[in-house]
Amino acid sequence: MLQKDLLSIDRMTKEDVADLLKAAHEMKTLYKGGGTVDSLKGKVLAMLFAKPSLRTRVSFEVAAVQLGGHAMYITHGEVGLGKREAVCDAARVLSRMVDGIMIRTFAQSEVEELAAHASVPVINGLTDRYHPCQVLADLMTVEEAFGSLEGIRITYIGDGNNVAHSLIHGARRTPIHLTLVTPEGYEPNKELVDAGKTEIGDRLRVLHDATEGAKGAHVIYTDVWASMGQESERQKRLNDFAGYQVQETLLEKADPGVRVMHCLPAHRGEEITDEVMDGAHALMFDQAENRLHLQRALLHILMGAQ
Ligand code: CP
Ligand code: NVA
Repeated sequence: MLQKDLLSIDRMTKEDVADLLKAAHEMKTLYKGGGTVDSLKGKVLAMLFAKPSLRTRVSFEVAAVQLGGHAMYITHGEVGLGKREAVCDAARVLSRMVDGIMIRTFAQSEVEELAAHASVPVINGLTDRYHPCQVLADLMTVEEAFGSLEGIRITYIGDGNNVAHSLIHGARRTPIHLTLVTPEGYEPNKELVDAGKTEIGDRLRVLHDATEGAKGAHVIYTDVWASMGQESERQKRLNDFAGYQVQETLLEKADPGVRVMHCLPAHRGEEITDEVMDGAHALMFDQAENRLHLQRALLHILMGAQ
């Protein structure tokens, strides 16, 4: 069973991931059928945001409410986390008042520090380094679309960013084959890649050639070229990532049944074309919906069982 927090997927066992995905599928079926669970009755999730959000904020809030609980949206500007108040003190104070904390911020170390000092569960809602809830919902989505993760070839094309890093962790905990294709200089973190290759060998590849990477892929996944916090690099990145756009001609190299994923928000016309976003291969809106189902299961496991 999952430990107290969800900080990154590598902290989960293969069984934790499988159990969470199973619970998420069950919760989705239950709620689609009109059933409910009230395991968060009387409980409150504090959501701390240092960056903008649509999916993460709304899916966590709806999930908490649907489980009979409540979610509170708090911006870093109000709290002054690490400025007005030390992270360790905020963790202690929040632990006296709420039943769980979700945090979206820049430094992974801030999330780790919060979790170290909080007595209630802490969930990573995205850092510069990782986006674990996203990738767990992605794995659920792939399972749903293909019936299993066994032998599924996922090719991620774009920046070696937080989503790419969590995908590496996801590949270490599931049977997927993961190819990451980036321009030179934008590869994912070397230590993460090396650790991944040591553990799963050829199931993890890092390439620079998008056409080569797309060959035979069951899933082509992309994300923005400039993540939150990198806005000043946008113009340079637009130039550096030319040739890495997910477009119809690239999909022709992939498996005929290829599906296209994007964690969203998408920058249409940059990393992905309108045609692909609006086309028959698109899976990104299922992905977005599954954030809700996955996180409902997550909140139930981490906060509901106490
Ligand atoms: N994918 C995702 O996390 O979306 P938001 O940034 O809108 O939360
Ligand atoms: N890599 C993107 C993901 C957004 C959900 C970012 O960090 O901005």
